[in-house]
Amino acid sequence: MTERLIKDLRPEDVLGEDVYKGNALALKKGKVLTKEWIDKLHRWGIEKVEVHQNGRTSEQKQEGKQLSEQELKRLFLENVIGLGNEYRFGFALNDQSRYEWLENLFCSIMKEPKVKALMDKLEDWDPYTYQHSFDVFILGALLAYESDFPNVRETAVGCLLHDVGKLKVPQEILWKNGALNGQEMGIVQSHTIHGYELLKEFKFSESIAAMALDHHERLNGRGYPRALASGDIGESARLIGVVDIYSALSLERPYRNAVCSHKALRIIVNEESVDMKYVKLLCETLEIFPTGARVELSDDRIATIVKIDDKLPTFPLLKEEHSSKVFYVPMNRRLRIRRMLVREQTEK
Ligand SMILES: [Fe+2]
Repeated sequence: MTERLIKDLRPEDVLGEDVYKGNALALKKGKVLTKEWIDKLHRWGIEKVEVHQNGRTSEQKQEGKQLSEQELKRLFLENVIGLGNEYRFGFALNDQSRYEWLENLFCSIMKEPKVKALMDKLEDWDPYTYQHSFDVFILGALLAYESDFPNVRETAVGCLLHDVGKLKVPQEILWKNGALNGQEMGIVQSHTIHGYELLKEFKFSESIAAMALDHHERLNGRGYPRALASGDIGESARLIGVVDIYSALSLERPYRNAVCSHKALRIIVNEESVDMKYVKLLCETLEIFPTGARVELSDDRIATIVKIDDKLPTFPLLKEEHSSKVFYVPMNRRLRIRRMLVREQTEK
């Protein structure tokens, strides 16, 4: 490998390292550079990158190439690390058996050639959407499991491929730095329909394709593309709707900073148009709760979360109900938050 100034790069050079813009993964190691990518690196103010000396290497990822179990596990780990798990996943991946369950599920799903081929295309087309899709897979699969969904694997595949329709959205719109105009917004929103059609074309089941179609539908009837009424939105689409917002808010983008996990959850808790049972489950799975939340502790006491350090979202400051006692969740986790108490939700 050799270090090269951006101005000396040429199309077909292969990146030897992941490239970050701020904390956001912008381009993955192994990427074959095009003129557009080189221009982008220049615009992002990056001065130099590592590249492979001889251009394409034999080990380099080939689109659609099947990977061994070991290579898939490595990919899983790299993807998890890329998501900044310590702040965003809370305690969700701390349990070894849970981690291995997710790892095995990912490996087994990625062994389906059509899944691998679509994910490779997505990674090349838009690294952020690839990263976001993996994130939604992790959280969506965990929530589907915790909710006793009849077919967790199917929901997990739908989570991984929910945004695959972005392949049909031009990159200049996906990467636009600034507000989209009405026409561009319409094109972005059409990723739901394109995703559905693409997944049907690849012979995925109706319920997997429906997750791509319906993940932006909302319980107040103001979602898209069909503005479905709440009664017509399935459980998988409701679940992914919650996880999708959390992921979108809390992942770093090249043009804006991430919202930290507990603040993202606070935004979602105040959102009337999503299914609160999945918001509650997401908080309980991460063991991150927003300020203002009423919670039940492992010793049966009820408390309200009054303050959270952005870097320690799993150890908030609590105020016990009907008392003036204020205390932190202890680091040794002798006392934990068992569940979040939420208001009844009425659906229109
Ligand atoms: Fe989407």
